[in-house]
Amino acid sequence: MDDREHPLSPNLGGPASGAAVPPVDYFDWYFPRLYAGVEHDLSQSGFQHPWDWSALAGGSLPDDICSQFGEPLDANVWVADREGVAPERVVVGHGVTQCLTLALLAAMEEGSSRRVAVEMPSYAPASQFPRLLGCEVVPFWRGPAHSGDTGPWLLDREGLAEMLGDVSAVVTTTPQNPTGWTMRADDQQWLADACAEAGVGIVADEVYLDSTRGTPDHRPFFTYGEHCLSVNSLTKCYGLGTLRFGWVIGSEARISAATRAMHNLQSMLSIPTLRLIKLAWPHLAEPLALSRRRREQNLPLLLEVLAEHGIDWTPPPSGIFGCIALPGDCDAQQAIEQVAEPLGLLAIPCTMFAPQLANQIRIGWGASPEEFQQSLAAFDEFLGRLT
Ligand SMILES: Cc1ncc(COP(=O)(O)O)c(C=O)c1O
Repeated sequence: MDDREHPLSPNLGGPASGAAVPPVDYFDWYFPRLYAGVEHDLSQSGFQHPWDWSALAGGSLPDDICSQFGEPLDANVWVADREGVAPERVVVGHGVTQCLTLALLAAMEEGSSRRVAVEMPSYAPASQFPRLLGCEVVPFWRGPAHSGDTGPWLLDREGLAEMLGDVSAVVTTTPQNPTGWTMRADDQQWLADACAEAGVGIVADEVYLDSTRGTPDHRPFFTYGEHCLSVNSLTKCYGLGTLRFGWVIGSEARISAATRAMHNLQSMLSIPTLRLIKLAWPHLAEPLALSRRRREQNLPLLLEVLAEHGIDWTPPPSGIFGCIALPGDCDAQQAIEQVAEPLGLLAIPCTMFAPQLANQIRIGWGASPEEFQQSLAAFDEFLGRLT
């Protein structure tokens, strides 16, 4: 992998504060387009579940929505029970984005080097945040060897092995954004073993992992040893991102450190969030089931359209998004801006995750079949205009 930069890609580098705090460049590209209103939205990596809040709340908001007293709100116990671990092994926070900070602080041994290896391609906050904790980030690669590869994508073990003597933690994302591919089982075991041997902590962003629940790909990192921390939330698989609820699971000692980090950095969680999560918690199987149905309905249609355009593609085995190399080696960002946007179509250029993915776009297939078919017609037109 080379480190060439791209204006939309994560800003890696050394410790950052003040004017050097890096922007998340892709937010500036994506959010204005999303909020302007999109006719055909293929940009979503998260499932937009139609939660019925008035049904969940029995018609009206609980009177104690903002009160911290009354019924206990032991959210770590809710997570622990669902994941089959002791409550002492869970700390909750505001989404994966905040929980990554708590997890990294717990993963780095006291006095260890302030260098962190981060997986590329990646969601920019997941690879940039260690810089704000005074760390230098160094990238390692889990992706295609060639621009047209469609997966499974493999860990660059050699590159990573060279770094392990000089970093205190590794940050990985599985399933990965934008590819949707879970880390292969043999790579995961290798990474866990190599890090244990080198005394390096692992922080795994598993925000998409629940799409694999009940399959052999459901292998949370916290089951791989005391040095591993899993970070997850209700954002992507459950459609509850705006509530900002996430958690870290690890050993009791690491979670004790993460909990103290939470108290230092955040003091407490948002109480209305906890009360709303409590209402939704017994129903978490519903979004998982509906998103799987959507995959069964929508993915074959996408494959048909791709085949019609001569695009050979292997979707990731689970989830509702993946990334696809565009025909003719064209630049995905340009194609989206110049060809897709006039069609009312929004997809994600994968340079948002790594400069090496300039030819790939991320497509989501989690919409309702009616919406998806309409978006697919626009996507078909888009591909036709590229060739
Ligand atoms: C890999 C990854 N992690 C985390 C997040 C955000 O998670 P949360 O809303 O729980 O902070 C995203 C959102 O795009 C993501 O792609």
